[in-house]
Amino acid sequence: MNDDVSPRSFGHTLDDAGFAQIRDLVYQHFGIVLSEQKRGLVVGRLQRVLRDRGLTNFRDYIDLLLADKNGSLLAELANRMSTNHTHFWREPAHFLVFRESVLPWVQQVSPQRDLRLWCAAAATGEEPWTLAMIQRQFFAENYRHWQAGLVATDISEPALCIAEKGVYDNDRVQPLPQDLRALGMETMGGGRWRIRDEMRKDVMYRRFNLMAEKLPFKHPFHCIFIRNVMIYFDQDTRRRLIARLVNSLLPGGWLFVGHSESLGRDDANLEYVSPAVYRRKSESQ
Ligand SMILES: C[S@@+](CC[C@H](N)C(=O)[O-])C[C@H]1O[C@@H](n2cnc3c(N)ncnc32)[C@H](O)[C@@H]1O
Repeated sequence: MNDDVSPRSFGHTLDDAGFAQIRDLVYQHFGIVLSEQKRGLVVGRLQRVLRDRGLTNFRDYIDLLLADKNGSLLAELANRMSTNHTHFWREPAHFLVFRESVLPWVQQVSPQRDLRLWCAAAATGEEPWTLAMIQRQFFAENYRHWQAGLVATDISEPALCIAEKGVYDNDRVQPLPQDLRALGMETMGGGRWRIRDEMRKDVMYRRFNLMAEKLPFKHPFHCIFIRNVMIYFDQDTRRRLIARLVNSLLPGGWLFVGHSESLGRDDANLEYVSPAVYRRKSESQ
């Protein structure tokens, strides 16, 4: 989205105090840091919210936000403030590591054939669907003997709706290797593709805010993909989130972050594997 929208360009103006309040709410609830440069973007993205609610100024909107009892206004704020940019086959080296190293390791360490994978910033679904296709391709005829698939979460409801629908335009699908596309998708005509019906139960989509102090999962994961979301968080938020994620990985479990989000190679509990790929150290290490 274009950042150069002036605070006044759509009619409703946002003064310094109002911007500071919205910035604080967004940071406290969703961990997202909004710099002063983002003020125009905030105004642009919230215009429709004000209009839909029949509000004539930001002051009234902020008062409603501060009094939001059931969290629906905050959820709408999260929807508007999150950037859901993603695409198929983004940072492809990670998908090769997943196929060539993670899945063979899971085969070794999970005799009960239970694969536990979490895609923690799923956006509009391109990344989790790809991970599901790679699993089916890897396990081939043995897939049905596995408890596989993945849980995919995001804070944005509109993004999750698109993900669950699993319908994408031709140009979005192009980067996906042909073999995976043939395995997981079918053409609908009119330049659109959809996820095959038999794949739909492979991905369980849920709304989840990564700022929650406790992760809602009973069992630890073999692998977590959390790519290109921590760029929106500050250092302290990232550090606390990483600690929670590491705790919810099995020893030896894999953590994938975005390539611009490298964690530093000296985290006591993580071993660096390759750019933006880490493993939880085992207890004895
Ligand atoms: C840029 S997208 C990354 C999508 C995908 N992982 C990729 O690498 O292409 C970032 C996603 O993080 C989500 N997000 C931002 N803050 C979040 C939070 N506090 N909890 C959960 N998801 C959040 C956004 O809604 C957005 O869909």
